[in-house]
Amino acid sequence: MAPEPLIRVEDVSFSYNAESEHPIEALKHIDLRVEKGEYLVVVGHNGSGKSTLAKNLNALLIPTRGQVWVNGWNTRDSAHVRDIRRTVGMVFQIPDNQIVATVVEEDVAFGPENLGLPREELQKRVARALEVVEMTPCRQRAPHLLSAGQKQRVAIAGVIAMEPECLILDESTAMLDPVGREGVLAAVRRLHQSGVTVIAITHFMHEAVEGDRVIVMERGRIVMEGSPREVFSHVDELRELQLDVPQVTELAHALSRRIPAFPRDLVTVEEVVSNVLRASTRERQVHGEG
Ligand SMILES: Nc1ncnc2c1ncn2[C@@H]1O[C@H](COP(=O)(O)OP(=O)(O)O)[C@@H](O)[C@H]1O
Ligand SMILES: [Mg+2]
Repeated sequence: MAPEPLIRVEDVSFSYNAESEHPIEALKHIDLRVEKGEYLVVVGHNGSGKSTLAKNLNALLIPTRGQVWVNGWNTRDSAHVRDIRRTVGMVFQIPDNQIVATVVEEDVAFGPENLGLPREELQKRVARALEVVEMTPCRQRAPHLLSAGQKQRVAIAGVIAMEPECLILDESTAMLDPVGREGVLAAVRRLHQSGVTVIAITHFMHEAVEGDRVIVMERGRIVMEGSPREVFSHVDELRELQLDVPQVTELAHALSRRIPAFPRDLVTVEEVVSNVLRASTRERQVHGEG
């Protein structure tokens, strides 16, 4: 028998205003397992159900039909809602809405303080969390004076100071400039390397390449699933879903139309460069040069 995943979603449907005359069916028959230590990326255009799915994973929403288990706890079991929220932490899109204190350090301490931890443990966790997001030098600053990217890293520190097993980022880089985005991605990468399970919702396709697995959502369903390489090889289907592929993949595709045997499923710059070099070597050999 396969080991119990961290999160198990079984035939979940979710409707807003379920009791009303006009329910909005946001999730339809979703099945999903998230393994411990995995880095899962969720993509899909606006309104496809990504945020609704995320909120069903930490009991912010309860399925209209079907079940969600987190560490074996069913999200319908109100006795374990606290355990579930401590296991699965969530970071949202707009960093300002997540800041509660007037000093960075206090802001990060806010969540774990409510866990009733001893003072020393609390300080240790806050220091560690600030270290991971590289915000230690700003620990005494006022959060509202930070850049959007720094604020988002403080918000992430606040969640990871609770030491969740899983971190969900719901378009947490959407409001940031490229530098801010890279800082957040680097922090998430370090967290994942330290063993935290990551679920990242994004509409930036090059960010999806960071994941072990990508799922694509469309109208409340999971319509594609696989490694970034597998998913992004379906360029035409993704375009039909109004989604892009990473620029690198797009370039590989364009090259494959002109260069025989050029691979189409490339997702990193390095791969494209080495394949271009290889192709030009072949070319020279064919033409008896070099
Ligand atoms: N609070 C809400 N009340 C009613 N409908 C909602 C609410 N939140 C989202 N929806 C609807 O549910 C569907 C899925 O939305 P959402 O999960 O936010 O998608 P995404 O995060 O992919 O943009 C959309 O049709 C959206 O309009
Ligand atoms: Mg959303």
